[in-house]
Amino acid sequence: MNSEGIERVGVCPGSYDPVTNGHLDIIGRASRVFDRVVVGVVGQSIRKSESLFTPDERRGFLERAIADAGLENVEVKIFTNLLVEFVRECGGTTIVKGLRAISDFEYEFEMNQLNRKAAPDIESVYIFASAEYSFIRSTGVRELATFGGDITGLVPDEVATALSERVQRS
Ligand code: PNS
Repeated sequence: MNSEGIERVGVCPGSYDPVTNGHLDIIGRASRVFDRVVVGVVGQSIRKSESLFTPDERRGFLERAIADAGLENVEVKIFTNLLVEFVRECGGTTIVKGLRAISDFEYEFEMNQLNRKAAPDIESVYIFASAEYSFIRSTGVRELATFGGDITGLVPDEVATALSERVQRS
């Protein structure tokens, strides 16, 4: 709560296709900064490529990983509207994103400007990835799994198993 007794709600949006241990690091750290964190899973494809997992599957992976981590002030929701509208629906005022390297900066800078133009009252804040997760991204993990690489430690165990099965079938 802030000094006026208002609950501080942070929204961590993303495709999470699938969730990685890097995402979980950011979500866990955000849960210590905010009273409540809502993880927003993009419910419709915003990229040219098809999603590997359905929104419900992605939400399930996140919910179980968050429960395993004991993060009691974190919930997961799917959203299909504009991010800033979703943040308002959640009663939040802050978008929380992870930043890994310079390569993330350009995309996030653009998204920041777009989101601010749409809703100047909603602030975006950035948490730098911990060093051990700074190289992990969902696309890279999916590619590694596709070619039989070892993804242990990069994603939750349940996700690693599901990913190996899914890429063999696709
Ligand atoms: O890089 P990701 O994980 O796919 O991020 C997705 C998201 C929604 C966080 C990013 O594209 C963003 O900030 N978009 C803002 C524009 C918007 O509202 N898009 C609608 C998504 S349903």
